Amino acid sequence: MNRVGIEAIAIAVPQRYLDIEDLAIARGIAPAKYTVGLGASEMAVADPGEDTVALAATAAARLLRMPNVDASKIGMLVVGTETGVDHSKPVASFVQGLLDLPRTMRTFDTQHACYGGTAALMAACDWIASGSADGRTALVICSDIARYGLKTAGEPTQGGAAVAMLVSSRPEVLELDRGMSGVFSTDVHDFWRPLGRREAVVDGHYSIECYLDAVAGAYRSWRERATEREVVREGPTYRSEQLARIVYHVPFCKMARKAHAHIRKCELEDVGGAALDAVARAREDALDAASFETQVAPSLMLASRIGNTYTGSLYLGLTSLLHLQGAELAGKRIGLFSYGSGCSSEFFSGVVGARAAAMIERAGVEEILGRRTRIDVTEYERIMELPRESAVGGATDAAPGTFRFAGVRDDRRTYVGSAG
Ligand code: CAA
Repeated sequence: MNRVGIEAIAIAVPQRYLDIEDLAIARGIAPAKYTVGLGASEMAVADPGEDTVALAATAAARLLRMPNVDASKIGMLVVGTETGVDHSKPVASFVQGLLDLPRTMRTFDTQHACYGGTAALMAACDWIASGSADGRTALVICSDIARYGLKTAGEPTQGGAAVAMLVSSRPEVLELDRGMSGVFSTDVHDFWRPLGRREAVVDGHYSIECYLDAVAGAYRSWRERATEREVVREGPTYRSEQLARIVYHVPFCKMARKAHAHIRKCELEDVGGAALDAVARAREDALDAASFETQVAPSLMLASRIGNTYTGSLYLGLTSLLHLQGAELAGKRIGLFSYGSGCSSEFFSGVVGARAAAMIERAGVEEILGRRTRIDVTEYERIMELPRESAVGGATDAAPGTFRFAGVRDDRRTYVGSAG
């Protein structure tokens, strides 16, 4: 069977961030609610110059500057996003133009809330694995700015980032297990953004229930396929424990903890052990917590410092994990869960590449985080209230190798910057 998966990853994040405790204090909320209750420590704040296109182009430019990434071989450019900048023209077209990419490629966006990035990745993988790519590679970008608005319950879960991935038949970072995905979708109103609105509308607590229903459905479906293929086996350990790590979509870090406990609850139910007395429940809770620390926590570093990044969230989680543990995970199988409100979700798996650690080092994660500037709540609120269609301070320049939105002229969005 043809190998396919992620060959290289690059990221871009907004230049400013807010310490989440500063936000809690300004809102008169106990900081522990945000740090412990939601699991956040910092939140990225995108200014209008850092729109979905600018972040996507910046991440893609970083990817294209990596050794052995050949732009002339890219035959498909897909952007997964739920915060595009136009009802018709895709973010992918803007990125193609800004990076002066070859004209001999398909360009399009994929949308299904936070699942859009996974839809893009799967489309690219299927195109390559089917042979239609004929040796070409795909550039998949997840780019979003998560906004709920000032003083809303979702406010501490905002953020933004872009993740660019080269998808090919040389999966140095992660080789996907083909034909094993478990999917779960249903029509729910948990989170949405009506046309013309900048901020998402969300039924917060219900959205958590929808996410948990989805992770149960998608995981069980993956488990069935993985068991048939003898990738995992029924036995004394839960089959989810046979995955070295599980990376979840992270709207806020605590959600990954809830999701992981839920999968383990499903495992227990499925072996007929759901009715526990208090002692057994306490033992199970302790096992859940220990399993979370080993199997999930290392993937949350970037989410805790950036916040929700919608389509990019799962892939920032993968970047965090391999940044911290890429060498020890080489050759091991991990699980990934993608959730998009509305809803569509997918649990899939893959094997970490032998050179994953070296490939992820090229993303320069610490350097990118270290270049950011901490701002106070007054500055954050000023930025949030800026009209999004105007360039911040009439941007005329961008740091080398990055892009910025520079305003609408003659009904056309304009950008400044360079691929570097
Ligand atoms: N110390 C420690 N913990 C505290 C605390 C304190 N002083 N005060 C409260 N907490 C805990 C609460 O117990 C709770 O934890 P548990 O859920 O484990 O019980 C946690 O902090 C949050 O408290 P609340 O539930 O009271 O918080 P809230 O009602 O203000 O809002 C929220 C929480 C619903 C997640 C809200 O932030 C929100 O709407 N966020 C956006 C929607 C979202 O992220 N949904 C996730 C699923 S949908 C999805 O995944 C797609 C996507 O990307 C959007």
